[in-house]
Amino acid sequence: MIKKGIILAGGKGTRMSPLTKAVNKQLLPLYDKPLIFYPLSALMLAGIRDILIIVNKGQLNQFRKILPENNNLGIKIQYKEQQNPNGLPEAFIIGEKFIGKNSVALILGDNFFYGQSLTKILKKNINQKKGAKIFLHPVKNPSSYGVATINKKKQVLKLVEKPKKTKSNLAVTGLYFFDNNVVKLSKKLKPSSRGEIEIIDLLNIYKKKKLLKADFIGRGGSWLDTGNINDFNDASNFIYTIENRQGLKIACLEEISINNKWIGKKDIQRSIKFYGNCDYSRYLKKL
Ligand code: DAU
Repeated sequence: MIKKGIILAGGKGTRMSPLTKAVNKQLLPLYDKPLIFYPLSALMLAGIRDILIIVNKGQLNQFRKILPENNNLGIKIQYKEQQNPNGLPEAFIIGEKFIGKNSVALILGDNFFYGQSLTKILKKNINQKKGAKIFLHPVKNPSSYGVATINKKKQVLKLVEKPKKTKSNLAVTGLYFFDNNVVKLSKKLKPSSRGEIEIIDLLNIYKKKKLLKADFIGRGGSWLDTGNINDFNDASNFIYTIENRQGLKIACLEEISINNKWIGKKDIQRSIKFYGNCDYSRYLKKL
């Protein structure tokens, strides 16, 4: 069972400048919560409560203000800094000590997943012991992502990072499950032409060893991009629409924890005090 999860929340955020000049992208508001709440909620829904957040050099204190190590969420949060955005697999090198001898989940700090099928898929895959697992979702613009070509048996035939042309519309989402070999393998990766070590290269090593599996988020789930300002705004509006229609919050961390029986009434009261007089606190009161 995967018990450890890493959120990679660094990056330059250049596509979102000037918004990201002073503030890390993952702390920008996706409607009513900082973006990082959403990937964190996905890990928590998977049952993962031992979490390492990797942030840019110098930005640790920004994150600690909203997600302190000593939190009321019933989860263990640790932080590490990434000196430069050298590529996604660096998460496993920076996180080597945190990972120890365990398997690990990685989620990108700017990925937003939503939907009923999501928890089911996460729980189904969390017991994986060997190999790597990716989660695919159809998109209209595959060239913006890692793209997987699969056969009828849903086996992955090919993985390419941001191909100019592709017949497949299946994007590789920013959620990955890996066995413990990932640390060793990440250290062996060589930077690509864009100067980063690439997650696709890492996944291709697993594929070559026949240790790569794919699952599908499917129509019952959504995976939205927050890559540029328009996508960010669309995702924000999506959350606004759902939350205001249903009166339920997406990615309310305390709600997930209380449903998982990780926290109780006292923790919720502490959280209400922590956030202060706001809509989020009023929602917590109702829990
Ligand atoms: O979102 C899914 C896509 O994420 C995948 O389909 C691609 O295969 C994968 O390479 C990645 O593509 P992006 O172009 O979206 O990656 P980006 O460089 O924008 O980084 C994603 C997040 O990770 C972002 O929040 C910044 C953070 N990051 C990125 C790098 C390269 C770091 O914290 N450190 C890094 O070194």
